[in-house]
Amino acid sequence: MGFKNKFLLLEFLAFVLSNLFLLSMAWKPIPTVTFVLNETSYTRLCSTKKILTVNGLFPGPPIHLYKGDSLYVNVINQGRYNVTIHWHGVRQPRNPWSDGPEYVTQCPIKPGANFTYEINLSTEEGTLWWHAHSDWSRATVHGPLIIHPKPHTTYPFPKPHAEQTIVLASWFKGDVMEIIKSALESGGEPNKSDAFTINGQPGDLYNCSKAGTFKMAVEYGKTYLLRVINAVMNEEMFFAVANHTLTLVGQDGAYVKPFETKYIMITPGQTMDLLIKADQTPSHYYMASRAYAGLVYDNTTTTGIIQYSGNYTSPSTPFFPDLPNYTDIDSATNFTNKIKALNSKEHPVDVPKKVDTQLIITVSVNTLPCVNNSCEGPNGSRLAASLNNVSFVTPSISVLQAYYYQIRGIFKPNFPRTPPYVFNFTADADNMPDNVLTPLNATKARIIEFNSSVEIVFQGTNVMNAAENHPMHLHGFSFYKVGSGFGNYNISSDPDGYNLEDPPEVNTIGVPKNGWAAIRFRADNPGVWFMHCHLERHASWGMDTVLIVKNGGTKLSTMRNPLKYLNPC
Ligand code: C2O
Ligand code: CU
Repeated sequence: MGFKNKFLLLEFLAFVLSNLFLLSMAWKPIPTVTFVLNETSYTRLCSTKKILTVNGLFPGPPIHLYKGDSLYVNVINQGRYNVTIHWHGVRQPRNPWSDGPEYVTQCPIKPGANFTYEINLSTEEGTLWWHAHSDWSRATVHGPLIIHPKPHTTYPFPKPHAEQTIVLASWFKGDVMEIIKSALESGGEPNKSDAFTINGQPGDLYNCSKAGTFKMAVEYGKTYLLRVINAVMNEEMFFAVANHTLTLVGQDGAYVKPFETKYIMITPGQTMDLLIKADQTPSHYYMASRAYAGLVYDNTTTTGIIQYSGNYTSPSTPFFPDLPNYTDIDSATNFTNKIKALNSKEHPVDVPKKVDTQLIITVSVNTLPCVNNSCEGPNGSRLAASLNNVSFVTPSISVLQAYYYQIRGIFKPNFPRTPPYVFNFTADADNMPDNVLTPLNATKARIIEFNSSVEIVFQGTNVMNAAENHPMHLHGFSFYKVGSGFGNYNISSDPDGYNLEDPPEVNTIGVPKNGWAAIRFRADNPGVWFMHCHLERHASWGMDTVLIVKNGGTKLSTMRNPLKYLNPC
């Protein structure tokens, strides 16, 4: 055999082998992990109680995947309550059956029962998370979902020396399920949390907490990636590290144009990836987080400690960061408005330039009348919340099952496209008409054509003088934040200021207090998708709705069939 032929043969063999390799990658079976939900004793703030956990852990176990992977998660409920699990920020292409919100895409997993979810990643890369999506069980049932770049690809920034997940959460001394149950019975505000936590620990500023404070060891000169997840129940949070500059590089499982900042503001539901360089005098530095909030909030501060390695005399107390004040709207807005999509060749922006379907949705806290004015809301009323004046009523079987099996009477497909009453949304509430105070109680959804380009404008209102920042979250999609502002949205002039160049791609957006925010996305994911405020008390009061994206004409644009086993309601 001549040299040339030998060479061709080798080349052919290499070709066969590399294809076999690619095939074996494509054929790799979907792995399974098991989540056992059980009550586990935890001691925080000087007292011990049982909390619902996954595998005994608070926060729950992290899931690590590569971009595009799939995973089965078998959830075995050994607790006392009905539960479901949601994969927050995962688009679940054509697969709402595994999305998780209770009575929206599935019936609950009852005590003693189990259910296997299938997580399907597609474009997500970075940090997401998972959490329970039934009553208030997500207070303790949540954990990181970390999506690494595909093998042989890397971050769009220099590889950090190490990574650290920072889960912010709420701690209640009482039983969280009882807290929301009794609040819904009385009609009043649910109890505030007693602490915030960093990776499960309140930190040095709370009673009986010093021994457990979360500590992160760093080496001088190295850069670390912090994956911050806001799993707090009812507050947006500021977060900062003493003396150190943070560089925001990602949000909600997508990359952003890096910029430096002294602090971040992160809403419940959001995740932020930060680079931090250990470039200060070796010592101990606090990372700290407290609320950015409007009306009723937990005003405590959670801390963790960054400790440099090496020989030095530790300070008696670590350095403390500057955190913006609880109600500092300017600091929150300045930070949020700096966030832009990376928009590189590998991570391009694909924002719809034209809009086929526009929804304008008011976001309000309301009241409902109560017999003999005997409830604990304002003037004996019952607190409620709404989108376009509809307060979402949880149905008795899931909206997805009702839609798929065409069961009538479970939901109505007439969620309003525009506010049913037009008034000066952000004015003093004393000048508002009475009919905007009382919402309609109903289960309504909005049907959207497959592949239409959708714009949603969320308009915050000052009904009850209760304006605040609302973190609106949509399941099944990530979307582009194209604009936001204060006051009433102006349909003719505000679109002129839209960012259609490099808008950030997110799954949760903070609608500014007494302001508006506009998002765009392509409705290319057929299914039934929940949309709601990620402040848990607002979601419990009805600040929710459902978007149903119809099937397209082909198999690949049609919702998958239900799993063989669906939990009964
Ligand atoms: Cu974080 Cu409806 O979810
Ligand atoms: Cu809200």
